[in-house]
Amino acid sequence: MLNKKIETELNKQVNAELYSAYFYLSMSAYLESINLSGFAHWMRIQAEEEQFHAMKIFDFINERGGRITLTEIRKPKTEWENVISVAEEIYEHEQIVTNLINNIVDVAIEEKDHATNNFLQWFVAEQVEEESNSENLLNQLKMFDGKGHGLFMLDKELSNRTFVPPTTGE
Ligand code: FEO
Repeated sequence: MLNKKIETELNKQVNAELYSAYFYLSMSAYLESINLSGFAHWMRIQAEEEQFHAMKIFDFINERGGRITLTEIRKPKTEWENVISVAEEIYEHEQIVTNLINNIVDVAIEEKDHATNNFLQWFVAEQVEEESNSENLLNQLKMFDGKGHGLFMLDKELSNRTFVPPTTGE
């Protein structure tokens, strides 16, 4: 049985992951509007990953006999200055998500909820990857100032991404 405090935290994280999906989908729409269809595609896959994260927590709450309570997903921003500012915000957002996950781990430890702590370790590892991928993307874009031939080549490369559900470690 899931304790109420943990249940509340996990429900908040379901919302945060769904918001991440919405935020990234909004970035995808913006990127499409500036004709970066490869990058837009990459962000769309990223949004699918975020939905996967939300559902992984959703299933865990159920499995532990908790109650899922869905709440409003806040409106994401819809415009950016340029492609570099999109990449900067992805990287910043992933660092925020890492902090959210770490905070729930802290609560799980305080509450001596070993099962939740164990479950969340998958997310701890996933966030290392998420931060690293978004930082790499930002650094690559900065190399050519988010412009010209470099951008054209990167956009082409990003169009090849396919959605592969992240390994569950189970
Ligand atoms: Fe669900 Fe990108 O962290």
